[in-house]
Amino acid sequence: MLALANDTLLRALRREPTDYTPVWLMRQAGRYLPEYNATRAKAGSFLALAKTPALATEVTLQPLDRFALDAAILFSDILTIPDAMGLGLYFSEGEGPRFARTAADEASIGALAEPDLGDLAYVFDAVREIKQALAGRVPLLGFSGSPFTLACYMIEGGGSDDFGTVRRMAYARPDLLQRLIDINTHAVTAYLNAQIDAGADAVMIFDTWGGLLNAAAYRAFSLASMRTVLASLKHSPDGSTVPTIVFTKGGGGWLDDLAQCGASAVGLDWTVDIAEARRRIGGRVAVQGNLDPLVLLTDTGTVAREATAIVRAAGAAPGHIFNLGHGILPTTPPEHVAVLVDAVHRESRALRAA
Ligand code: CP3
Repeated sequence: MLALANDTLLRALRREPTDYTPVWLMRQAGRYLPEYNATRAKAGSFLALAKTPALATEVTLQPLDRFALDAAILFSDILTIPDAMGLGLYFSEGEGPRFARTAADEASIGALAEPDLGDLAYVFDAVREIKQALAGRVPLLGFSGSPFTLACYMIEGGGSDDFGTVRRMAYARPDLLQRLIDINTHAVTAYLNAQIDAGADAVMIFDTWGGLLNAAAYRAFSLASMRTVLASLKHSPDGSTVPTIVFTKGGGGWLDDLAQCGASAVGLDWTVDIAEARRRIGGRVAVQGNLDPLVLLTDTGTVAREATAIVRAAGAAPGHIFNLGHGILPTTPPEHVAVLVDAVHRESRALRAA
């Protein structure tokens, strides 16, 4: 295996000392970059882009060519799994993701089968192609949606303000929701293991909607299934343990549970006090986060100041990965990202020297 020129992210995930705090951004390859929009136009659509490994490789590398980011993340989407289960994923302009079919009742959930990994070969091909193109510059993150978050989209047939159908099912038909979660748990495990086989250096589970549940339902449906996935992940081809990140948006009330679910790192949204999180769980896991993505829509002085505040609040102890508290917004000025990355690197070096 090729040695990495910059392994700062992997060291931080293992809570080993680093010269500075590594930084990457959720959705770092996306519509705020004109070159992304150009490649997307060339592909014809977001899905065509994601399903063409050469183009997915191109956009994965775009933010790294502009900014001194410490990781690449596979360009894909969490909804590839339900798409491969036959639900018919499409994107209607301005509306976000939609499914032609839902899995929301006895019949449709009963008919659901785990995806054939062959139908997801474009994802694993992209991982291999990106690894080759990176040539060891920085680590490559693979990812999946959490079994529960995938279930949210499969049940509702797309995004939703409150995922009311899902939440009613959690109360009224927990058995049915559990059946769907179990199928997703197997699928997510196989999917992440195939990404690891293809060369992903670390993997992240996006639990975007776990925070909608009450505490008991969160533990039963979201946390338990993520724990099962994490316990079933392979080691990388060189035999080392692949570091893992879990991110439950809105999960700030369950940090102790998250710190014990088997992941190397816990992602924090911007509502969490990162200093307090580091005190509470920083001795057990690394912590990732947590700048409000809206900060990037202010001005360069504010961006630098808010980034500095998070770097200082997280402190110099090993195990902080700087990120946003959710995905970067399409209206973000790219110059602000440059200021952010430089501020994180500069301030975290200064903090270690102090
Ligand atoms: O972080 C990265 O750079 C990797 C790429 C990535 C995408 N989606 C590309 C994408 C990742 C990690 C995701 C994860 C994802 N997808 C999540 C979990 C993280 C989160 O944001 O909460 C979710 C919930 C989805 C589902 C999804 N895909 C939605 C809701 C949307 C529409 C959002 C929007 O901003 O319009 C997508 C489409 C999508 N996935 C885009 C990108 C760059 C925008 C599509 C476009 O180019 O038009």
